Amino acid sequence: MADELDGAEHGRLVAYARDEDKARFLLGCAVARRVLGVHLLLPPDQVKLDRTCPDCGRPHGKVRTEGMQLSVSHSGDLVAVAFHPSTPVGLDVEVIDPKIDADSLATVSLAEVETKELARYEPAARARAFTAYWTRKEAVVKATGHGMRADLRKVIVSAPDQPAEVQEWHGYDGPVQLVDLEAGSDYAAALAVLAAGDLTVHSIDAAPLLSSGSAHRR
Ligand SMILES: CC(C)(COP(=O)(O)OP(=O)(O)OC[C@H]1O[C@@H](n2cnc3c(N)ncnc32)[C@H](O)[C@@H]1OP(=O)(O)O)[C@@H](O)C(=O)NCCC(=O)NCCS
Ligand SMILES: [Zn+2]
Repeated sequence: MADELDGAEHGRLVAYARDEDKARFLLGCAVARRVLGVHLLLPPDQVKLDRTCPDCGRPHGKVRTEGMQLSVSHSGDLVAVAFHPSTPVGLDVEVIDPKIDADSLATVSLAEVETKELARYEPAARARAFTAYWTRKEAVVKATGHGMRADLRKVIVSAPDQPAEVQEWHGYDGPVQLVDLEAGSDYAAALAVLAAGDLTVHSIDAAPLLSSGSAHRR
């Protein structure tokens, strides 16, 4: 799939030291390019993606393309891309690592009310609960494009055992909807959509698109 990437993506690909990071990045590019290729009736390598970072100009920012909003996320063995024709979306998947120190991570990413809620979970269940909080918050800041420049302690979301919703964030005052996605028992995943109104999420396995080779070979 590497021959479907553009020059900026090639530069990113070869710069990764670890094979698994290369693979995750490459798959994110391939899914985005192949889905957009089918949508635009173009070969994947002809799809124009702009990854320019608004801060430094390097190609590591939120992926943009004309006529589609998208968001890429990868963690562990999972790579996911969200698409919407007009509304900004933010997707975050994270592998649940039972060894993380959820209480320490909470001090830099959870609000006081969320930290108190987390403390109600048994220590063995805390990594999963923390990761649910984390993916919900990251989905929101990825939808707006703030990314980790936002203070996650100020993005207050519902408790992990409650339906996902943003309860408070003064950094953004437009509409936002949040949903948890099913990603298997080892992962947490959330999707944020910057619009009000009815929301239907279709989750589609990208494996057939990848294993079938490019849909549009010249
Ligand atoms: C975006 C960000 C939250 C991703 O976190 P992560 O959990 O490590 O990684 P994920 O796999 O979930 O997401 C990675 C994807 O986020 C996307 N992304 C990068 N910056 C983004 C932003 N500001 N908003 C939304 N999405 C962004 C990219 O598409 C990236 O995928 P790629 O591999 O195709 O480049 C984090 O990397 C970030 O905030 N980066 C920008 C902050 C920063 O330092 N900016 C200044 C740099 S000069
Ligand atoms: Zn940058």
